[in-house]
Amino acid sequence: MISLQGVTKRFAAITAIRDLSFTVQAGQVFGLIGPDGAGKTTTLRVTSTAMNPTAGRVTVGDIDTVRAPEAVKQLIGYMPQRFALYPDLTVVENLNFFADIFGSPRAQRAELIARLLGFARLTEFQTRLARNLSGGMQKKLALAATLMHRPRVLLLDEPTTGVDPVSRREFWDLLTEIHLQGVTIIITTPYLDEAERCTRVGLMYRGELVACDEPRTLRDGLGATVLEAQSAQALQARHAVEKSEGVLTVSTHGDVLRLLVDRAERAAALQAVWQANGITVGNVRVVRARLEDAFVLMLTRHDKT
Ligand SMILES: Nc1ncnc2c1ncn2[C@@H]1O[C@H](COP(=O)(O)OP(=O)(O)OP(=O)(O)O)[C@@H](O)[C@H]1O
Ligand SMILES: [Mg+2]
Repeated sequence: MISLQGVTKRFAAITAIRDLSFTVQAGQVFGLIGPDGAGKTTTLRVTSTAMNPTAGRVTVGDIDTVRAPEAVKQLIGYMPQRFALYPDLTVVENLNFFADIFGSPRAQRAELIARLLGFARLTEFQTRLARNLSGGMQKKLALAATLMHRPRVLLLDEPTTGVDPVSRREFWDLLTEIHLQGVTIIITTPYLDEAERCTRVGLMYRGELVACDEPRTLRDGLGATVLEAQSAQALQARHAVEKSEGVLTVSTHGDVLRLLVDRAERAAALQAVWQANGITVGNVRVVRARLEDAFVLMLTRHDKT
């Protein structure tokens, strides 16, 4: 449904995305993740026809975004990172406004707006000014506005950033409903629990796609073991083994140490180091890898090459 082939986008001296290639099959939810400035927004912009790539080709539903942008726009709903709702219009006025912009037919408009309000659980807030909505409600209203012309493809740029966990879950319930209707979705997110819910995930770093696969495959193909341990001196424990052989990364979470090591047998040598330094560390055990571990490792490896 969506295909990028060798796409590069340059802004003067900055190459925002470099030789990017991936495809999203119809009905998939594709998650794009990566640190600040990795090129996620630029990727969505060139896909949405908001800007043309410097090189390469983007197609949506087999239509070329540069040759036939208007046809592509019909297929696409794009929710930018900073979606501009009109703060001084009410919820329902905002939807009417976007219906005008997207040229949605007048005859079915009232019905469509009522349905979208219900879908976004905003019916009882329809006369509230957009600026008085909570952050989560604003995101849902933006999503409703994006759905006004019944797009077959949704491009969502960090739709849940800064939203509380409960609202995030509600937002994903809505996305699941849209997904089940067969809409193809690309979503960017800083939250890896959300990435786990995608059909496929692409990890971007410095304008390149570093990895792209099903979340489970990325997690299980880690090629490392995750150890956890407990220590009241977690920071000292971390510094003591950071440079030890076989240790890939160490992080602390309160009194819990999380270590990525090349193999589980390293645990004994680590214990010896802690003991020699007079640091008490207990309960060393192998735990299940998370997507986050896989990404930290991929970025570390990528930095070294
Ligand atoms: N219009 C522009 N002009 C110049 N540079 C730009 C422009 N848009 C993006 N860039 C640069 O391109 C790079 C990629 O930016 P982009 O916004 O795509 O990253 P991102 O992954 O969406 O980051 P974030 O997570 O912070 O939203 C950055 O270095 C950014 O400064
Ligand atoms: Mg962005």
